[in-house]
Amino acid sequence: MSDKAKVIQKDLKKFSVTPNLSDYDKTYKDFTWENVEKEEIEFFEDGTLNIAYNCIDRHVKTDKKDKKALLFEGANGEKEQYTFSDLKALTDKFANVLVSQSVKKGDRVFIFLPSIPERYVVFFGILKMGAVAGTMFSAFQEMALVDRLSDSGAKVVITNAALYPRIKKIWKDLPGLEKVIIIERGSEEQPVGEKIVYYKDEMDKAKSDFEISHMEKDDYSYMLYTSGTTGKPKGVMHAHYDILQAIVTTKYVLDVQVNDIYWCTADIGWVTGVVYATLGPWGLGVTQVMSEGRFSPESWYKLIQDYKVTLWYTAPTAIRMLMGSSVDPRDFDLSSLRQIYSVGEPLNPEAIWWGLDAYGLPFHDTWWQTELGGISITNYPALDIRPGSMGKPLPGIKAAIIDDEGKELGDGKEGNLALLASTISSLMKTIWRNEKKFNSYFIEKWYISGDKAMRDKDGYYWFIGRADDVIKTSGERVGPFEVESSLVEHPSVIEAGVIGKPDEVRGEIIKAFVVTKPGIEQTEELKEELKVYVKKHLAGHAYPREIDFIDKLPKTRSGKIMRRVLKAKELGLPVGDTSTLEDY
Ligand code: WTA
Repeated sequence: MSDKAKVIQKDLKKFSVTPNLSDYDKTYKDFTWENVEKEEIEFFEDGTLNIAYNCIDRHVKTDKKDKKALLFEGANGEKEQYTFSDLKALTDKFANVLVSQSVKKGDRVFIFLPSIPERYVVFFGILKMGAVAGTMFSAFQEMALVDRLSDSGAKVVITNAALYPRIKKIWKDLPGLEKVIIIERGSEEQPVGEKIVYYKDEMDKAKSDFEISHMEKDDYSYMLYTSGTTGKPKGVMHAHYDILQAIVTTKYVLDVQVNDIYWCTADIGWVTGVVYATLGPWGLGVTQVMSEGRFSPESWYKLIQDYKVTLWYTAPTAIRMLMGSSVDPRDFDLSSLRQIYSVGEPLNPEAIWWGLDAYGLPFHDTWWQTELGGISITNYPALDIRPGSMGKPLPGIKAAIIDDEGKELGDGKEGNLALLASTISSLMKTIWRNEKKFNSYFIEKWYISGDKAMRDKDGYYWFIGRADDVIKTSGERVGPFEVESSLVEHPSVIEAGVIGKPDEVRGEIIKAFVVTKPGIEQTEELKEELKVYVKKHLAGHAYPREIDFIDKLPKTRSGKIMRRVLKAKELGLPVGDTSTLEDY
């Protein structure tokens, strides 16, 4: 029997804890967003709400007041703990700091920090006073930063002294940037300047009591730039009402229960870090673990062991790295683990089988996107797993496979993975200052994911691939255009075409085809130089691991790079329809 045909059957009687969702079919049938709204989130008396109230303040009014919200382990092993009351006081203070710096409701405030607890303080402080929180990876370099900060018109950036030089370099191109707030943690040299404000100084002065902003359901809460095939990254706008789907999925899918110790390994620069290392777990008042250190199999297993992590949400590239490592999980006590999950790229069946053997638990694959704001198609603790399948739609959400005209296709047919837009509670509100791009996501009532998929006769969805050129490398979404733009800024390069090339560990790696200027010697050294160039100018993770020199790029007659031709050639596949291809 092939792996595809094998099923991991669940026997609820053997579970030590009954899952929050124990009968998928029944829950799917009975579910309404209105009902869960009443159960899971709190509004103010005037019908408005605030994510920060739902994640922090409301717990302080209950016996969760002194419960540990965050267990932090720093890069050098230092440990810190924060209760919900601690977070309430700190986030109130930071909201006051922002007000004192003239930040207003709707202003964009960006976070550019490593994985330290202040990330949470500033994120919720921003939300409390009604500004929009923008999150970014600390691996970003000047090009990625300037794209995001200028497009959003960010008014304030919160960073640390080590990362500040990158902002300093581009500040001249950011007329809207009024202040930079510096967190001292981990810094050596302290930058000074009129527009530079120190977190600690301001927090010391601020009152630990703030009148939280009352936000409409659709008012913006956070924004995240994400990549498509064309153009620069786009600002995906999410609302305060997103908290509902964040909580419902954290409860029904990640199965968070009151005594869990939860660890989502995602960075807040990625949507998974915002929704599942921030909103969802604290919306349910659970204790979560945060680690500043870099990935290594030993340190991850040690963290699970030391903190007795019960729920672990991670990504396929990390799982494949753990799988390929010589470190044996059986050398650690990981018996606290109750359920484990994966997101961000296809999770290959081998990884699931390996997990079952290594941890005695199957990884549950979950599917969603930055634009969706929460898990939308997924596996559930109580539902049998078909390894290789992303599972079934979330209760509340209707999914379908449709053709390019919006017609629903039957089971077993490959097509566009679409969701009925009105059923996605946390769907983005718009694309920042780009209504046209926003509208391009929809065919009538359907939200089009850009992924190709198939549904089997039992309602399980199977991921096939992207319908466009978006690259997923180690789970990070990278637009080929960004990498191409960075390469052509190098003095030796005329043009570049960039594709994702399948890779056993990383899912895909970035591969660039580069046309150099006449007279330039095409050496291995130049390839290395180009890799470093992109790493230093765009982002640490978005550089091409492979580069080929090429005489000419395949283009359409209108001048668009045909990346699919590059990809087909690279993979030795048929090139397909080339009727629009310019002489090549
Ligand atoms: C891909 C991540 C296969 C997919 C939360 C999607 C997946 C894109 C899965 C969104 C999965 C995400 N199986 N592919 N379980 N999860 N993807 O915006 O192509 O970073 O469209 O959001 O990742 O990436 P994003």
